[in-house]
Amino acid sequence: MEKIRVDWRESTLYSECSWHQLAPYIGRMKSSMAHSLVAQFTDVGDTVYDPFCGAGTVALEAWRAGRHVVAGDLSPYAYVLSKAKLNPPKDVNDAMKRLRMCWAEATRQVPSIDLRRVPRWVRAFFHPETLRETIAVRNVLLGNQEQFLLSCLLGILHHWRPGFLSYPSSHTAPYLMDKRYPRTRFPEMYEYREVYPRLFAKVQRAFARTSEIDWKLSRIVEQVDASAGDQTGRCRKLSAIITSPPYMNSLSYARDNRLRLWFLRVDDHRKLERVLSPRKNQFLAMMRCLLPKWSSLLSSGAPCLLVLGAVRKQGKYHNLPQEVRQLVRGTNCGFKVTGLCSSVIPDGRRARVTCRSTREDTILLLRKRS
Ligand SMILES: C[S@@+](CC[C@H](N)C(=O)[O-])C[C@H]1O[C@@H](n2cnc3c(N)ncnc32)[C@H](O)[C@@H]1O
Repeated sequence: MEKIRVDWRESTLYSECSWHQLAPYIGRMKSSMAHSLVAQFTDVGDTVYDPFCGAGTVALEAWRAGRHVVAGDLSPYAYVLSKAKLNPPKDVNDAMKRLRMCWAEATRQVPSIDLRRVPRWVRAFFHPETLRETIAVRNVLLGNQEQFLLSCLLGILHHWRPGFLSYPSSHTAPYLMDKRYPRTRFPEMYEYREVYPRLFAKVQRAFARTSEIDWKLSRIVEQVDASAGDQTGRCRKLSAIITSPPYMNSLSYARDNRLRLWFLRVDDHRKLERVLSPRKNQFLAMMRCLLPKWSSLLSSGAPCLLVLGAVRKQGKYHNLPQEVRQLVRGTNCGFKVTGLCSSVIPDGRRARVTCRSTREDTILLLRKRS
């Protein structure tokens, strides 16, 4: 078996490129893991494909390491985040210039925003004036395809801290914290929050840690269903696939992002959830159909790295990596398994600390058969 070296123990909070921190994403891969996999299994000038790109972690690390990138995800939120990271403004001055222009356009819209058309559950999170401004700037950023600024806006949408826009709420998923911070005792947390200075500060923070990057490398990012479209048809031969598929319905990619998705004009997050978080049989069927397709995109011997979680649900342990391994062995999918490496996810690294469903991540290394 081949050795897989990954580093996911150390915190990357103060060392990773700040573009990784534009906005939270449940199930986001640790950037140091993405970096190690890219460095170990690909070379400068290669093309890396991530068909389940989520927040764009692999894609950004691949681009930063001098690789061309093809990335896709079905979630509109994942698409906006990944597009933002792979097509950022040239520098902080460029970002601020764009922000000022968009804000000027948004302020003209604010008086005409009719909050009666906003669902009650969304209104429950914001002071009415803050919500009007947020919707106006969202309209402009969406219309102008300013995904980087839009991601910054989504990144400050909800939290209990003063730099955020909502009433006290949790950050990763939107839950109001009005029991912990009742309006009567914490009236300042329910006051109007001016959007512009908060967004301005967020954009500045987004450029806190960036590095030289090769803008000539190609970066294709699309909102597409990995099992339906053929995203790779238009691009050069792929050198490697590095991805973490939506292993079983253990993470709620739509429900936990429902407020951000509403601002991206997704009214029914439940419908999206059913597609984004497949059940075990659906997941295995999807992998059965995707593996031969992926193998046809790679040259002989090229790597396909799958980051998968073992899942415990309703007291039952599902060793998904093992099931995918058997699937590769038992079908004529064009790959062979050449490496495997597991590590328990430390509590603080989980999407939700109380979440008991995913306990370890496994990297499965497949190589295209010759
Ligand atoms: C484990 S997450 C990927 C996390 C990513 N590696 C990161 O660092 O953010 C799995 C992703 O698969 C996406 N997804 C689920 N079903 C999909 C499908 N049929 N086609 C494309 N993407 C899908 C989800 O939206 C989610 O973002």
